[in-house]
Amino acid sequence: MPPVIRISQISDYVDQEITLQGWVYNRTHKGKLVFLLVRDGYGFAQCVAFKNDLTPDLFETIVHLPQESSVIITGKVRSDPRAPGVPGGYEVGITGLDVVQAAGEYPIALKEHGVDYMLDNRHLWIRMPSQWAVLRVRAVVIAAIHEWLTDNGFIHMDTPILTPAACEGTTTLFGTKYFDEGMAYLAQSGQLYNEANIFAFSKVYCFGPTFRAEKSKTRRHLTEFWMVEPEVAFCDLDGLMEIEEQFVSHIVQRAIEKCGPELRSLGRDLSVLEKIKPPFPRISYDEAVERINAVQAQTEDPEQRKLLEMPWGIDFGAPHETCLTQQFEKPLFVYGYPTAVKAFYMEPWPGRPEVSKSVDLLAPEGYGEIIGGSERISDPELLLQRIHDHSLPEEAYKWYIDLRRYGSVPHSGFGLGVERTVTWICGIDHLREAIAYPRMINRMYP
Ligand code: 4AD
Ligand code: MG
Repeated sequence: MPPVIRISQISDYVDQEITLQGWVYNRTHKGKLVFLLVRDGYGFAQCVAFKNDLTPDLFETIVHLPQESSVIITGKVRSDPRAPGVPGGYEVGITGLDVVQAAGEYPIALKEHGVDYMLDNRHLWIRMPSQWAVLRVRAVVIAAIHEWLTDNGFIHMDTPILTPAACEGTTTLFGTKYFDEGMAYLAQSGQLYNEANIFAFSKVYCFGPTFRAEKSKTRRHLTEFWMVEPEVAFCDLDGLMEIEEQFVSHIVQRAIEKCGPELRSLGRDLSVLEKIKPPFPRISYDEAVERINAVQAQTEDPEQRKLLEMPWGIDFGAPHETCLTQQFEKPLFVYGYPTAVKAFYMEPWPGRPEVSKSVDLLAPEGYGEIIGGSERISDPELLLQRIHDHSLPEEAYKWYIDLRRYGSVPHSGFGLGVERTVTWICGIDHLREAIAYPRMINRMYP
């Protein structure tokens, strides 16, 4: 048997005999020719059966081969710019074909199905080129995250998922009774533990599933998502922004480098992503409010005008983020949010206690927030005050306040949402396609 190759490497095998192990994604029959679009996990390639090259039995088998049958194909690779596929541009002239299993009637015929139907069949939907491509990009994004952080002195530390206390507000907690210890909550963030860890390891990150009982049914919210959270000792807000822009640029450039065919198959314009290099623009929340108000004043549609209303002091909604990010080609830092709309642990702005040393990174083209971060309060008295102000149970945070008593330093960190980042890089509409098995307020199956 000729060597088994991956479709992603097909260009290395032009004019050679090869073997593909995969599945029949699509089949079309034209007289003496049958075209199979075969996928092998690494790509999609057109394989052509020519009647005169094959035994009558084998040709008949191929003519009737059901969609999603598993096959082992031998044949010769030809370069043909018209051949469809990912990467495309090559086809295989079939010389032999073994059917491993002739598939039963496949629930996803190659026509338009409603999105609910596709989500019910998510375990099969991930085989389709668009979903496959997004999930390949996701894997590369995750690898790039680990790579950049490791290369830049960060150590990966796992933080608990069952936790006794909230990090990002008490309204989105998933709780469960925990033996005789009271309630446990699924982690909303590993940040508080990261903060303990930096005092032992200086630069750390955690990377895990994150849980938010978000009541919101939007394109940007999942109840279970993946977040990478770096945390750095001796780092202020400016230092944090420098880390973030290097980090995000690395992720995007790696995605282009390793997933060009996948991104192109999604219709993504790579030249837009190639521009994602440091430095990123930085504006204050104050300036952001002014910019939104200026656009609002020019907006004629009364409904849109209402949506864009932006008094100082409120958090941005999706329309505000869209309005801002459409003004820039690169991700945009907005820093100095009102203290009242942010979490309890954020350091106040010097001389302006109503403002926090916080910074969000908003992705361009209307994608909006992909990172939330801040400098943390380093003073134990102020921290205790904030815990009281937010009506948090002091007992559960005793250890966290300890960190400010034994060698406290200015420190900062951020959290990047993997699905938000993948959605933006792929140029798709909805977060639910950026994770294999999305968890949303109204969906837990499959
Ligand atoms: O802004 P957030 O809530 O920040 C934190 O959790 C901090 N503790 C992070 C830190 O400083 N260590 O969340 C950070 C990011 C958001 O920018 C977004 O990308 C993502 O997590 N995110 C969500 N992604 C999907 N679904 C949701 N419901 C999300 N909530 C936040
Ligand atoms: Mg946020």
